[in-house]
Amino acid sequence: MVATAVEELAPLTEEQVMEHLAAGKLVEGLQHMSPKYLEGIRRILTVSADTEFVSAPAYLRAAQHAPALNNFGSAMSIIQDELAHAHIGYRLLGDLGVDMDWLIYERPALQFKYPYAFDVPLNSWVELVCANAMYDQAGFVLLGDVYQSSTFGPWKRALAKVDKEETFHLRHGRTWLKKLVKDPDGEQEVQAAVDWMFILTLEWFGLPDDLKVHTEQLDYGFKGKSNDELRQTWMGEVVPFMDEIGIDVPAHFDAERDEYVMDCPFPARFDEERREWLLDEGPVSWNEVTTRWRARGPMNDDYVRTLQRGYQTTGLRKPA
Ligand SMILES: [Fe+2]
Ligand SMILES: [Fe+2]
Repeated sequence: MVATAVEELAPLTEEQVMEHLAAGKLVEGLQHMSPKYLEGIRRILTVSADTEFVSAPAYLRAAQHAPALNNFGSAMSIIQDELAHAHIGYRLLGDLGVDMDWLIYERPALQFKYPYAFDVPLNSWVELVCANAMYDQAGFVLLGDVYQSSTFGPWKRALAKVDKEETFHLRHGRTWLKKLVKDPDGEQEVQAAVDWMFILTLEWFGLPDDLKVHTEQLDYGFKGKSNDELRQTWMGEVVPFMDEIGIDVPAHFDAERDEYVMDCPFPARFDEERREWLLDEGPVSWNEVTTRWRARGPMNDDYVRTLQRGYQTTGLRKPA
């Protein structure tokens, strides 16, 4: 069983949900949901939990290159946080009628819903701390918005803890980057990592507002800001920081337009084996990008297999 049908679980009509929200009340459980609300909150929670979950094997791969044991310890504590964040999301999905065993341990790798960026391997300590500075910053921007605006009470309250831990992750990234760029070799390595990771993180925020499909995310207050606004917020944090440490990024603040603008084609074609943007080929359609996302990238199968291995091999699996 994947999940109980939303119609059986969520008893309210759209109008009743809207009324409840208009009265300034939070949604506390299935009793306050309509089928559409339930479907939408399941979708956004799944993306969030999957993102936290897959960051664990992605960071673990890179953490093995930690320069010293205490650095490895810091990485482990970040990974432990991410698993706890994933647990919050999956646990809430369980309360919302989703079969957690299937969702976490039996679901095929291709059906996981985390951003494509995590499908591209992190191969060094430098890449791990760059991910802390950019990917964890993206997580912080997205979850900070949910924390402020979400109408789903149980998630909103849980995010108070998540928010604090994400602050530690991105501070870990920034502290390391500041240290690394003082040395010419370190600076070069950081620049090489930022060159492919910056644009991948911009994609993380999803389709531009004029192409977005799931409008209920804003209508229902699952989050407060649109994809493009969140992308701007992220650039507002990352671009000045990279400028400050002397790392080039393909974006700048345009005072006249009062927003950050990209200095390279976006969205663009990505060579996932070489981890390189084919910017000379010019911008591509979002259609091409979503096709790449749907096919998933090089590490998808490996990471999901790592996460599911214990369950699959220790007899925990339920008889079919
Ligand atoms: Fe997290
Ligand atoms: Fe994090």
